[in-house]
Amino acid sequence: MQLQMPLPPKYTEADEDWLTEQVLHRKEQFGSALCILAHHYQVDAIVDLADFVGDSLKLSQQAASRRDARFIVFCGVHFMAESADVLSGPDQAVCLPHLAAGCAMADMADATDVSAAMEEVRRLAGCQVVPVTYVNSSAEVKAVTARAGGAKVFAIPDQHLGCNTAAAMGYGDDACVVYDPQKPEGGLTAEEVRRATFILWNGYCYVHQLFTPQHVRAARARHKDIQVIVHPECPREVVALSQASGSTEQIIQAVTAASSGSRWAVGTESHLVNRLARRCGDKFVRILSDRPSHCLMMARIDLPHLLWTLDSLAEGRIVNRVSVPSQIAADAKIALERMIATKAVKEATRTKTQ
Ligand code: 13P
Ligand code: SF4
Repeated sequence: MQLQMPLPPKYTEADEDWLTEQVLHRKEQFGSALCILAHHYQVDAIVDLADFVGDSLKLSQQAASRRDARFIVFCGVHFMAESADVLSGPDQAVCLPHLAAGCAMADMADATDVSAAMEEVRRLAGCQVVPVTYVNSSAEVKAVTARAGGAKVFAIPDQHLGCNTAAAMGYGDDACVVYDPQKPEGGLTAEEVRRATFILWNGYCYVHQLFTPQHVRAARARHKDIQVIVHPECPREVVALSQASGSTEQIIQAVTAASSGSRWAVGTESHLVNRLARRCGDKFVRILSDRPSHCLMMARIDLPHLLWTLDSLAEGRIVNRVSVPSQIAADAKIALERMIATKAVKEATRTKTQ
């Protein structure tokens, strides 16, 4: 994680209305030279000022399509800003308003460890292993995994997403083993690796890991007709008990398109769920757990940091630029384009079968 320098009191002591007004003023000044992107987990004050709001893949596609924007200010976490930098042009600068806004899960897999682990797993398995990287990973991890190919799947960095993907492909839990990078040989025997089809990196999201099967049962006990929809970063048992799972964008689409009066318990970050509840006033929409689930990393981006970034850009200083070295960016781009293509195929298949 990188350090963020403290802001001058002009920003930290200002009230929300003034900060909002100043950001709007800067947006007007920059015009199409500025593009503010925001992830669905951002607070309303940021979402309301963004030019585009989306899930991680959609935001990186948006960054790729806004060639007229000299500055892309990314209100999300570090790996998302990296993806935007990889997919945008060399004359565009991607800035993350708070440098310490990193994704805790992406930080659980470092490129050197992943490279070493891939070698180790191949040796133990005695065959090729296909590394499958989730979008929540650093550009360097994406690059390392895009270079490799093989027969078993090594899912990095989220064990839950890996296990949920295996289940969606019809594999049982016995097809999965967890690789712990803190232990010699991942804590696995050669026999365990040979028998498994999915080797899961021991990473997780602390926000989604908190949802439990008990939350699903309690929601159903309160409202018999409630539908449960969760993010696939939730544990396998939670996804198995739910009616549906999907990315933040897919969750929003499913609930928005549902019939008036329907009831939903949603297993993902609280800012998204609360906003969805307000926007779908004709439905009953609640967080799945009994307490808020906040991503503290996303919350580091706030109005003072956004305005400070825009003021600096206006004064000719490019601050908090996220720049992926070109030799890493080329391979990370291959991984990202594969993720975007897989998503497009899945969406086309879903549309056809609806
Ligand atoms: P999405 O890509 O579904 O927006 O998820 C990103 C994320 O960090 C979820 O925790
Ligand atoms: Fe990362 Fe979890 Fe926050 Fe998503 S919710 S950005 S996976 S820490």
